[in-house]
Amino acid sequence: MSTFQAPKGTYDLTPPRSAKFLAVREAISAPLRDSGYGYIETPGFENVELFARGVGESTDIVTKEMYTLTTKGGDQLALRPEGTASVLRAALEANLHKAGNLPVKLWYSGSYYRYERPQAGRYRHFSQVGAEAIGTEDPALDAELIILADQAYRSLGLRQFRILLNSLGDKECRPVYREALQSFLRDLDLDEETRRRIEINPLRVLDDKRADVQKQLTDAPKLRDYLCDACKAYHEEVRALLTAAGVAFEDDEKLVRGLDYYTRTTFEFVHDGLGSQSAVGGGGRYDGLSEMIGGPELPSVGWALGVDRTVLALEAEGVELDLPAPTSVYAVPLGEEARRVLFGVVTELRRAGIAADFAFGGRGLKGAMKSANRSGARYTLVAGERDLAEGVVQLKDMESGEQSAVPLAEAAAELAKRLG
Ligand code: HAM
Repeated sequence: MSTFQAPKGTYDLTPPRSAKFLAVREAISAPLRDSGYGYIETPGFENVELFARGVGESTDIVTKEMYTLTTKGGDQLALRPEGTASVLRAALEANLHKAGNLPVKLWYSGSYYRYERPQAGRYRHFSQVGAEAIGTEDPALDAELIILADQAYRSLGLRQFRILLNSLGDKECRPVYREALQSFLRDLDLDEETRRRIEINPLRVLDDKRADVQKQLTDAPKLRDYLCDACKAYHEEVRALLTAAGVAFEDDEKLVRGLDYYTRTTFEFVHDGLGSQSAVGGGGRYDGLSEMIGGPELPSVGWALGVDRTVLALEAEGVELDLPAPTSVYAVPLGEEARRVLFGVVTELRRAGIAADFAFGGRGLKGAMKSANRSGARYTLVAGERDLAEGVVQLKDMESGEQSAVPLAEAAAELAKRLG
């Protein structure tokens, strides 16, 4: 170990486990790529005002958990705590919404930063794959995104997850509910911080995990009773489309998301094997966010799935991903000349698209064969002086254990044939 360790709340991805993270990113993005979503990448930091919009309902993510910094030039920047605001900012900046092709469908994959109290499944640096569909109000779009996330999780073999669904209303009905909730909450016996929250983001109080708070909330006004007809109809249509697609969900009127921009459809994917940090993904509609950051009215919907927690969920369920061995052929040279010759064969194999690796460092047969085994390669090529004198290499099938001499000039072609 060196003097240094990864900073608190972070961890490194190293082989072999890192392969799972790549596979999860690939599996989550595959259904998006097949459904018209284009790839977008934005900077790891933004001007702090993009996230700290200072209007309306602030959240812990914005007020407490953001990594902010002042540059030498005096700019106030924040490491991105989430992707939605950045992606929307970038789409507006590039005028993607003016290309006459709404919704603008985008997917992304990257690192996010939140100064949270670290615990299992909760990190200060984590990774998400996300999708945003910008500029269209259509319940089928909300349904599409939920269906694609469900498909992604299932393609990985994940089974013990549930989809929680709610509607948070829109700018017509939500304020009416907010006020009703606030006057109910103000009469309760709550601590100072929670009282402050009533004024800033009362819906978050419903999410309080403490039993003594929950007990007082039994008769709280329900958002469902306040939804306007348009929101109700919209939500019913999302539900009907999910049901028709065979995607099971649970109505959860207590579902309040951690970010401030949600309207109408909100959802979360929770996994029961993860303990308290059970949300493996979440998202919803954010019809007002574009205007909040100075853009035109662009009703939008999206989600982000947490890669770290998805890997933990797979491990909790004991799902073994079907990861192909990274190496198909492993070459073991015995001696100087063999090194030159086999290195040439490995180069030729790689150029032909066959994954090949090589025993570097002039190691003995025993140690090199151990590495060959560990590499997961299906075939090894071994050659010593005598083989070269005869113009052959030894080709060993690591599954059957069978070994045969193959003419050196035909080794690459023979391997290509055998590996199909
Ligand atoms: P979020 O619910 O804050 O939503 O994050 C989405 C997922 O990221 C969570 O469900 C979780 O799996 C993962 N995640 C969040 N924080 C952490 C952490 N500290 N450690 C490990 N994993 C974490 C958003 O970020 C929204 N931008 C989603 C969205 C997209 N809404 C609309 N479009």
